[in-house]
Amino acid sequence: MSATTVDTTTIRHAPPGPKGLPLLGITTQVRKDPLGYFARAAAEYEGLSMLPVGLDKVYLLNSPATLKHVLVTNWRNYRKSDFYNKLRPLFGEGIVTNDGDLWRRQRQLMNPAFHGDSLQRIGQVMRTATDEKISTWRNRPAGQAFNMSTEITELSLAIVMESLFASDAKGRSDAIAHAVDTMIEVCERRVWAVPDLHNLPVSPLYWRHRRARAALDEIVFDIIERRLHSGNAGNDLLGMLLSARDPETGEGMTLTQLRDETTTLLVTGHESTANAAVWVFYTLAQHPDIEAKVRDEIDRVCGNATPTDEDLRKLTYQRMVIEEVMRLYPPAWTVSRTAIEDDVIDGYAVPAGTNMMVSPFVIHRNPRYWPDPERLDPMRFAPEQRENRPKFAYIPFAGGPRNCIGMNFAMMELQIVVTMMTQAFHTKMVPQPPIEREAILSIRPKNGIQFVADAVVPIDSQIFTSAAA
Ligand code: HEM
Repeated sequence: MSATTVDTTTIRHAPPGPKGLPLLGITTQVRKDPLGYFARAAAEYEGLSMLPVGLDKVYLLNSPATLKHVLVTNWRNYRKSDFYNKLRPLFGEGIVTNDGDLWRRQRQLMNPAFHGDSLQRIGQVMRTATDEKISTWRNRPAGQAFNMSTEITELSLAIVMESLFASDAKGRSDAIAHAVDTMIEVCERRVWAVPDLHNLPVSPLYWRHRRARAALDEIVFDIIERRLHSGNAGNDLLGMLLSARDPETGEGMTLTQLRDETTTLLVTGHESTANAAVWVFYTLAQHPDIEAKVRDEIDRVCGNATPTDEDLRKLTYQRMVIEEVMRLYPPAWTVSRTAIEDDVIDGYAVPAGTNMMVSPFVIHRNPRYWPDPERLDPMRFAPEQRENRPKFAYIPFAGGPRNCIGMNFAMMELQIVVTMMTQAFHTKMVPQPPIEREAILSIRPKNGIQFVADAVVPIDSQIFTSAAA
């Protein structure tokens, strides 16, 4: 599909797409209801299409072949789009926002932290943190409603903090959480601001961000410096980042890089996973038949015991449910790239500088690969159905060399949290207004979701069991 392999006489100028309003294009429709607009686009614009977004022409990729081309085959020709500049106040020069050689080096240095022994250690952190959260839920008066989004976001952030800093986070977790939440909130408000004046000292958001950034920096630099002085980097994620050395130069990361990568992991490591988990609990509450199957499988595989890594592999139906939930609610619903040089995709010219929209939300609703796309059906992920579908029809973690580095981390966390919470509780939604989806950086329920959690094993009998043991 690249320019080198295509007969240039057959290249078409511009792909089809909606006309939109003069000057504004489709901007107003998208701003009003982004998910509704793109759910319709999934059925309407197959392959490559051109969306007029203000004065820009954004190319939407809606086929496994076009996605594979941009994410894998010709990925070097596609850098992160200028949209990522809006995320720099959050991520600095961390791995999400950087490109080229700096990105390659950082990715290489960070990869080992997300595999093997390191991931196994993180699994233990997840089990302990989930257990602690279960205790707080048990202490809540019976029948008292709580916001699942708040609770799971707290848990997810606790997991990533502990994975990064181990015990160094103790006593400072509230301050870290407050700073991270504030920075995400400011960043999200800036995403839609046109013109964006919030990077000027006249905007209160500018000052909120600066205060949060300064508070977080103070903590992170302090933890890093203590580690460096102690001569013991530690074996948590931060320890791995501190010890990582470029194989060619032997150099480690600078203090600023360490700060930026740490902040990047604090943010990317909890938001998306928490939202995915909340949608899983929502789905289970809406579909008692599926919830019963998930529960039966847990009973069969590990009963009341804390799930081991081997158990997680055996929880195949649960994994299918999680995958189907992330098809319908892919937390990172859209990401974007910009063509560095001219290219050709699907027979259409892609001039250098073109912005490309890579949207898990759109491809996950393309009816060619997902018949009746709005219907929830975990069986879509049964082995035989999966084998008959092109790989790039499902991209919740994007794909290719710039896929999500935390994919295994996220899947493990989702399985551990869903398993342990299901073992401990029957979670149910309380009557409330219809749940609205909100899509900014992540897809999440607009005002959270109110739940109650009834203990599966009454507290008295647990005391009895542990006393007997
Ligand atoms: C369900 C949870 C998650 C989802 C759906 C998700 C999704 C994604 C997607 C779609 C990308 C590509 C972004 C782009 O190209 O702009 C990405 C990148 C990334 N994710 Fe995740 N993510 C999740 C969890 C995590 C976790 C738990 C971590 C870390 C602990 C993490 C760290 C990262 C990083 C550092 C990148 C940038 C990788 C690079 O550019 O090389 N993510 N993620």
